[in-house]
Amino acid sequence: MQKLAIITAFSGGIGAGITEAFLKESDWHILGLARSAGKFTELNKNCTHLFSDLLNQREIPNLITKVKSHIQTIKPSEICFVHNFGQAKHANILNTEEADWDNLFWANVKLPFLFTKAFSPLMQNSQNASHLFIGSTLSEIAVPDSTAYIASKHAIAGLMKSVAIDLANMRIRANLICPGFTESEMADQVIKYTAESQNMTTEQLKQAFKEKSPLKRFLNPLEIGNLAVYLAKNPAINAETININGGFGLI
Ligand SMILES: NC(=O)c1ccc[n+]([C@@H]2O[C@H](COP(=O)([O-])OP(=O)(O)OC[C@H]3O[C@@H](n4cnc5c(N)ncnc54)[C@H](OP(=O)(O)O)[C@@H]3O)[C@@H](O)[C@H]2O)c1
Repeated sequence: MQKLAIITAFSGGIGAGITEAFLKESDWHILGLARSAGKFTELNKNCTHLFSDLLNQREIPNLITKVKSHIQTIKPSEICFVHNFGQAKHANILNTEEADWDNLFWANVKLPFLFTKAFSPLMQNSQNASHLFIGSTLSEIAVPDSTAYIASKHAIAGLMKSVAIDLANMRIRANLICPGFTESEMADQVIKYTAESQNMTTEQLKQAFKEKSPLKRFLNPLEIGNLAVYLAKNPAINAETININGGFGLI
């Protein structure tokens, strides 16, 4: 029987690193949810792309039906659902638009809630089942000008803990990975907006962030992916919030 990792936003950024890490383990199959397959084309026999616009709320029930059917067909021996898709917005409490708040809470909290609720009853049939939520360093601390992002990433930490308690009797685990700055399109956008608001160049700001880390660099998506695989495979790790940020903030 196959092992199945279902990964939202699998085609780029951190999602691509997670996908790559699972594919290195030859016995895992990927079901990737995004608008494109990126470099993971259908030529890769262990990777199936299901077209998904995860911001199109009306399409989600249809998507849930398709993913359920995939799980029921494969009947995986192990299954990990990686709730990776996320949205970010640079705005403080006074200038956060209600629509942006709703968008971030949809992507970062409600979608993981809907997917966890829909798929867990099927996941309990596997020998090793888990939900892996992707939070952020900002799941535990706050910085200026990211109100909706910080609030939603704190909320996903609470959702993970609740899932770990509520689904334990179904032998489904839950864990939260909290990445620090990781090379991706989202990180580039955050740096661009922050640099503009602080009258700095993006290179100056990038360097300033790197100086806050003992490693003096950003992470790469595969480093997050390797941690995701470790958590998916290890049946003893449950309800953990794991920071992976190279020691960011220590300095
Ligand atoms: N990067 C960081 O420094 C960092 C730090 C902490 C936490 N995080 C968290 O890590 C997660 C991933 O972040 P990331 O930096 O990799 O983000 P990203 O660069 O925005 O991710 C790109 C991925 O999102 C997919 N995507 C974008 N819009 C989509 C849509 N409407 N429907 C479906 N897929 C969509 C893209 O695929 P398509 O374009 O093909 O749809 C691509 O696969 C997020 O939860 C984020 O909050 C990131």
